[in-house]
Amino acid sequence: MIPVITIDGPSGSGKGTIAAKLAAHLGWHLLDSGALYRLVALSVLQKNLNASADENLLQQLAETMDVQFTGVEDPAAAQPIRVLLAGKDVTDEIRTEAVGNLASQLAAKKGVRQGLLARQKAFQQAPGLVADGRDMGTVVFPDASLKFYLTASVEERARRRCYQLVAQGQLKAQDINVSLAPLCQELRDRDARDMNRAIAPLRPADDARVIDTTQMNIEAVLAEVIQVAFSIRS
Ligand code: C5P
Repeated sequence: MIPVITIDGPSGSGKGTIAAKLAAHLGWHLLDSGALYRLVALSVLQKNLNASADENLLQQLAETMDVQFTGVEDPAAAQPIRVLLAGKDVTDEIRTEAVGNLASQLAAKKGVRQGLLARQKAFQQAPGLVADGRDMGTVVFPDASLKFYLTASVEERARRRCYQLVAQGQLKAQDINVSLAPLCQELRDRDARDMNRAIAPLRPADDARVIDTTQMNIEAVLAEVIQVAFSIRS
């Protein structure tokens, strides 16, 4: 059985960064399942549809959209992975708040989740997979060898998002203070949507190790995750 480590948690908990670094460290494949939901959202926007479109159509879109992740096979996965939709590089486009918000609305739809299930399972390739998302440990890979659930306070997650936006040139450093409150509200709304939906709600799997990263930097979280991963394997 090809081993899988799942890392679930809310936006801004650090799970994406930790999953990428852990996959690079182990030389394993990486599944950024949030990117798949974002790609469905972008496909919906490109077709001038919205979240209330016919669910069969949305499922078909999720199943058939032409997606490629480049760089995943590279063990030095520290280099940014590029995401292609119908051959076009959409790595930055899928990271906008508009796409993220639509992704979270679409993620509540059974057809969309069903449409992405087989795609996600196909990432389980030798020598192993690190899977990052909301329901990796509960729904997509319930038999995973090791499950983590990363969390952090809303305020800390909003602060991290602000610094990320500054680093990307999308926010001026002097505007951080005014941006924090609306970002906190957006995160609360998205958490509520992800945690309260009927299908595959965001929650730790019963056998997940929960790590609160509020007071931790990335290096400390990575060290803890690697230490647990190796203690399990040896
Ligand atoms: O992780 P990321 O913010 O990129 O995910 C975008 C949205 O996709 C999330 O807000 C969530 O609603 C949805 N998602 C999900 N299940 C996953 C991954 C993401 O519902 N496994």
